[in-house]
Amino acid sequence: MARTMSDKSRLLSEEVLTKYRVELLVKGTAVIAPQILFTQADLAKIDQLQAEIPEEEVREGDAGDFHSVFVKRVRVAPPGHRPSNVSGTASGQIMELIESKDRSFALRQIFGASSDYVVRRCQMHRMPPGSFVGIHLDAESDPDFEYSVIVQLARDFDGGEFVVYPTRHEQHVFRPPFGAVLVTTCKVRHEVKPVSSGERRSLVYFCSKRGGANRRIIESSGARL
Ligand SMILES: [Fe+2]
Repeated sequence: MARTMSDKSRLLSEEVLTKYRVELLVKGTAVIAPQILFTQADLAKIDQLQAEIPEEEVREGDAGDFHSVFVKRVRVAPPGHRPSNVSGTASGQIMELIESKDRSFALRQIFGASSDYVVRRCQMHRMPPGSFVGIHLDAESDPDFEYSVIVQLARDFDGGEFVVYPTRHEQHVFRPPFGAVLVTTCKVRHEVKPVSSGERRSLVYFCSKRGGANRRIIESSGARL
């Protein structure tokens, strides 16, 4: 029997995790329902901690793509560098929460992995009206990114849909509710449509079996998302 989350999430059975694993395998994307990976208390704690982290505006992506979004960095792995938390206590505490044993175990089940996963990068995204994230491939930022995990932290906003393009002719549109977690492979192109009202906020992190330096070779000097 699968272990349950410390926060007594009863839904976290082997069966539920298998369902998500199959969804991720078949579609490349899975939406984990609210309260399964992060409880309300976890989300409140993340919200409280992130307030201490400085924010920067990113207007251009690092792989020639285009973005307009406010970013708070929690863990970074620039080209040539190993993943490391940004300075300050808040980043370490957010990472501790994300990397808790039960949560890592559950995610590993969803990834279908037999060994541990490392969080190579973690950041908060704040998108007021007009913000968007242009079509991009996460693996272009760091070739070792395997899965991105996106935790929805806002309730009231319009637009800001997450659109995945598994092939040239296919698109899947997601609008996960507050507390839901979108897991997607870093090998499919995706974008976040412009936010039309309210504010979209999310916690995003990228997982990999590899913990070493970012093997990306820099070709241009655009700002990194
Ligand atoms: Fe992305």
